[in-house]
Amino acid sequence: MQQRIALVTGGTRGIGAAISLALKAKGYKVIANYHQNHETAENFQKQHSIDVYSWDVSNYDDCQSAIQKITKEHGEISTLVHNAGITKDSFFHKMSPVMWNEVIQTNLSSCFNMVHPLIDSMRQKGFGRIIMLSSINALKGQMGQVNYCAAKAGIIGFSKALALETASKGITVNVIAPGYTDTEMVRSVPENVLEKIIAQIPVGRLGRADEIAACVAFLAGDDAGFITGETLNINGGQYLS
Ligand code: CAA
Repeated sequence: MQQRIALVTGGTRGIGAAISLALKAKGYKVIANYHQNHETAENFQKQHSIDVYSWDVSNYDDCQSAIQKITKEHGEISTLVHNAGITKDSFFHKMSPVMWNEVIQTNLSSCFNMVHPLIDSMRQKGFGRIIMLSSINALKGQMGQVNYCAAKAGIIGFSKALALETASKGITVNVIAPGYTDTEMVRSVPENVLEKIIAQIPVGRLGRADEIAACVAFLAGDDAGFITGETLNINGGQYLS
């Protein structure tokens, strides 16, 4: 079988890096997107021989031209893992319009920006895997994250609707909703707050990025062809939907 090409956004750090490595281990040709952290991305590329490309997923034109370039250089992308995302946490009464817009553009509008340039080729091929990274906080809500929860919940609606549209074309669209996972993003939560959060996790610890990545790799594979429009919660029991 021809080697499948997987594109992972935010794929050089945190959960995204673990996903890039898990897909590579499964035999995919992996392309990792990143935004601004050039040094980390270069090291990741050197260490793991995974090609990295920098662009801003909140910008439609940048997504379109990057996808065209990758397709020209490597071939058609069969698997998209849209993992890139940011937080701008603040209580709502202190949240600025900039904090709202940046999170909505980067975490939610990016779904349109990334999938739209890819969907025609997946439909024509009759195969595609689209996996979106949401969050436990899309489902349970979280103080200090009105912007993030809105965007991450939006991803679930986006994916359900797209799953229905594309099911007959061999394309599956699924969501992974990770709980608090041991990454830089979670470690930047104030220590006293993070202690409270860990105390709410029945498994008694933060998740590991490789635990999330293993589930992404499963959903990307042929064995998961009958799963679409689904949201998989991986949160150590912190929220049961
Ligand atoms: N869980 C439990 N309690 C929380 C909390 C949380 N997630 N976030 C805030 N609180 C509590 C604080 O402990 C504090 O309680 P006390 O008054 O009893 O001390 C109270 O809320 C007010 O918090 P702060 O004193 O920190 O208020 P602040 O205005 O300085 O900051 C904040 C507010 C920006 C929301 C800050 O508390 C914060 O960053 N909280 C973490 C929010 C969070 O959970 N973000 C998730 C980031 S990781 C992620 O998003 C990945 C993912 O998908 C899971």
